[in-house]
Formats: sequence, C-alpha cells, structure tokens
Amino acid sequence: MKILVTGGAGFIGSHTVVELHQSGFEPVIIDDFSNSEEKVLSRLESIIGKAVVSYSADCNDETALRQIFAKEKFDGVIHFAASKAVGESVEKPLMYYQNNLGSTLAMLKVMQEFGVKSFVFSSSCTVYGQPDVLPVTEETPRQEAASPYGNTKRICEDIIRDVVISKTGLKAISLRYFNPVGAHESAQIGELPRGVPSNLVPYLTQAAAGLREKLTVFGDDYNTPDGTCIRDFIHVVDLAKAHVKALELLAKTEEDNFYDVFNVGTGEGVTVLRLIQTFEQVNNIKLNYAIGPRRAGDIEQIYAQVDKSHNVMGWKAEKTLEESLRDAWRWQQALAADNATV
Ligand code: WQD
Repeated sequence: MKILVTGGAGFIGSHTVVELHQSGFEPVIIDDFSNSEEKVLSRLESIIGKAVVSYSADCNDETALRQIFAKEKFDGVIHFAASKAVGESVEKPLMYYQNNLGSTLAMLKVMQEFGVKSFVFSSSCTVYGQPDVLPVTEETPRQEAASPYGNTKRICEDIIRDVVISKTGLKAISLRYFNPVGAHESAQIGELPRGVPSNLVPYLTQAAAGLREKLTVFGDDYNTPDGTCIRDFIHVVDLAKAHVKALELLAKTEEDNFYDVFNVGTGEGVTVLRLIQTFEQVNNIKLNYAIGPRRAGDIEQIYAQVDKSHNVMGWKAEKTLEESLRDAWRWQQALAADNATV
C-alpha cells in the first residue's frame, strides 16, 4: 500500500517512513523543508536501502497536491506537516492557523477528489490543557489550549470529525502524541531543532555536548514529588510504530465514515529532574543545569492512559526512558561528528 507522509523529512515523519517501509508499506514524502533538511532523504535511503520518492511542496498548495495525487495512487495519508513550536505560535498566530488549518483542509479536499479515504492525523496531548484527572484518557474533555499551536490541533480534530460525519467516505484516526524523544538506533536520523531548542531533551543534549552553557529547569515549585513538571516521554520509534498500527486498523475497518482518537504515550509520568538524573546515569555524564523560574504556558503535569491504543490498535510503547535518553545522546554525538566533518 502506497502511503503519503506529509512532513516526512521531519523528526517524527522520518522515523515513521522507516517503520512504514519495514512493515511493507510504500511511503512517499511531501515536505517543504521549512523545518527539516533535505539530507534526511539520503539518511533514509541509507537506513531503508533504497530511495524514498519525495516531493518538495507546501501542503497548502492544492494545485501541487493534485499533481502529486494524479501521479501517485495513494492508499492513505499520514499528515505530519505543520508548524509546531508552542512559543512561536503565540507570537505568530495567523501563520499557525493558516499553515496548520490550511494544510489539513487542502489535504482533506484533495483526498476526497481522488477517492483516498484513509487519513492519520498528527495531534497532540496539548489539546487536553491541564487535565483535572490523571492519567488522561481519550474521553478526558479537551480544554481551551494554552497556545495557538494547541488550538490548531484541536480545531483540526474537529474538522476531521465533521468531514467523517458528512459521510463522504473518510476513515480517520487522530493520534494524540505526548512528548516525543530519542532517535533511531542508527543515529542517522533524529531531532533537528532550528536555532535554540524550546523542547527539553534537545536543549539538554546540546548542553551536555557543550553547545549550551547550561540547562535551565523551568520551575521546581510545582505540586509534584520533586517540584518539577511531569510529562510522558515516548521514544520516537514507538511513536512511529503507532502510525503503522493506525493505518493497519483503518485498512481492516470495512465501514466508511469512521473516526477514532488514540493517546500515544508510555502511560508513565516522569519529572524533569528524574529525566535529567536518568540521562546522567545512562550516559555517565554530569549535566550542568540550574533551577530557574517557571515558563509561561507550561502545565504542571500530564501523562497518558494508553489502554485504548493497546486494546484497539494493538500498540504499546516498548522502549524505556533509559533507551530514549541513550539514543538521544548518541544522536547528539553523531550531529557533532557530522558538523565536525562539514
Ligand atoms: C517539557 C518540560 C518544561 C525546556 C511541547 C508541546 C507538545 C509537543 C512537545 C509537539 C516542561 C521543561 C523544557 C527547558 C525545561 N510538541 N523544560 N527546560 O512543553 O511539554 O510540550 O512539546 O507536538 O505539543 O506542547 O515540551 O519539551 O518544551 O517541555 O525545564 O529548557 O520540560 O518546563 O515542563 P512540552 P517541552
């Protein structure tokens, strides 16, 4: 089955391309390379053993999408392409709504024109805001997201649901990611943050590599065991495998007009300090970090209840936090070696 992977040169997209190939699917990439690098394509070829067909295009561009859909006969779409920096979305809400909503609308429209029915959407735990009850299940009410980024994810979920209700044949799954971390075991692909990383693990590994003077822990006065925030850190390869399971579920779902939502996390909440201590232990590194003030917009704690993903999709996370942090560090070291050879 031929699967279009939008944003397929990105962090989660590239890892999903590998897992799709290894599960017998034929991935095709669309990426505008606004937040990814073309060198990822050659890295994917080296991991997979053959070139992945890819198109440089903006998913907002319906004409470009039609040309690609006319050329390739897709059996399904996984839609990663989106702007995803929470802080940037607060500064540039119009760009975020245009890009994230526009690309989803364009994709759904062109899919309908070409009779492509299977759609997996990259959503986020951010749609839950700060839940009152933990762990969060898929039935936990979504809250007004703390950022335009999170709001675009919530609105896209509603758009998809409404298209399914309109009975045009769409079969869709939204996967609500928790915090993706780590990298492929080959250290050929991983997270490539642009500029100063906003996310914890890439900033941490850059600090460990001496590229940042120190890591600042944003607050240790939360109502948690060690005062730092709690998150559900999931290995990016486990996250990638959830997309294969979602496609397989859609393929065996005979009825059209199907929609479902799944949490994709480990089910375990980990504090920021515990993540730092685990990183130091598994990599035998002393990290330079200091406690600083809280970051505006951060929620105190969130982690997933993942029974539904296991019982319905047949998926569960297999990799440990230790493996995630070992793989993240190996990737950072590979980046340093790569830059050293440039
Ligand atoms: C995690 C924890 C910070 C940096 C966001 C999006 C979410 C998803 C993942 C896309 C928080 C703390 C961080 C640092 C720190 N993105 N931290 N020092 O905010 O949980 O989630 O990214 O899908 O949708 O909302 O991730 O990695 O930024 O922060 O102490 O330098 O680490 O306060 O508690 P977050 P994060």
